[in-house]
Amino acid sequence: MPHEDHEKNRQAWNEIVEIHANHPFYRVKEFLGGETTLKAIELEELGDVSGKRLLHLMCRFGLDTLSWVREGALVTGIDISDRSIEYAEQMKKEAGLEAAFVRSDIMDLIGKIDQRFDIVFQSYGTHAWISDLDQWAAVVAHYLKPGGIFYIVDLHPFSTPIEDDSVAYFNPGPYRYTDAADYADKDYTIKSEMVEWQHTLSGIINALINAGLSLEMLNEFDKCCYPKEKDWFEKDGFYYPPGGPPNYPLMFSLKARLGG
Ligand SMILES: C[S@@+](CC[C@H](N)C(=O)[O-])C[C@H]1O[C@@H](n2cnc3c(N)ncnc32)[C@H](O)[C@@H]1O
Repeated sequence: MPHEDHEKNRQAWNEIVEIHANHPFYRVKEFLGGETTLKAIELEELGDVSGKRLLHLMCRFGLDTLSWVREGALVTGIDISDRSIEYAEQMKKEAGLEAAFVRSDIMDLIGKIDQRFDIVFQSYGTHAWISDLDQWAAVVAHYLKPGGIFYIVDLHPFSTPIEDDSVAYFNPGPYRYTDAADYADKDYTIKSEMVEWQHTLSGIINALINAGLSLEMLNEFDKCCYPKEKDWFEKDGFYYPPGGPPNYPLMFSLKARLGG
């Protein structure tokens, strides 16, 4: 049985694929012109991926996935949104790159890919869509080779409760949103309901540890991957509130290894 709230999210993410694919935020033109859509953080922290098998969880319409292919990795991307996967296939064709794309709820992924990976990768706006961290971490562990690396760079779990009074750090939710402004096109109101969860940083780390991974790196950043409000400004591919970097973390990254 598909997860009811994840299905709502699938429909919402389907609704905004075209908006995103046509919005300068996603840099489709630059990507097709040969530029990477990966940011300096993951490129530096993950290092050389050439020849490595990489599984990209929640890959949207594949631009970062295909950018890892350009870095030399052998890549599979998965996403719950069927429209995203259709677009990813189109991007792959237009860019003339090789990658596999699978449409799946992350929770139902086990059994759908018959491979283990050197790297499992996840980035920028993902953990809030996961209803159950233990189930998610089990999927990560399942797809890693022994000694393989899980890497995530994402919104810091502290940031939303600091910025939004209706979200409490220790209340996982679910939080239901209708008529939310899209994060890329702030003038577009998303008609579909979206359902998010508020995870703690320790919850994310402990789920990975309980699944058999060992933490190797944890970093925090005072910059964001998208503008949270209309008046945030962009500098070097990251976004800041009007006064500049705030005194709380906006993003985190971590690296963990299966086995130890
Ligand atoms: C903000 S995007 C991911 C970030 C990506 N780096 C980007 O910037 O587009 C979130 C993605 O997670 C996917 N997603 C949400 N819930 C999911 C789930 N339960 N299983 C798999 N993918 C999911 C959505 O379809 C969407 O493509």
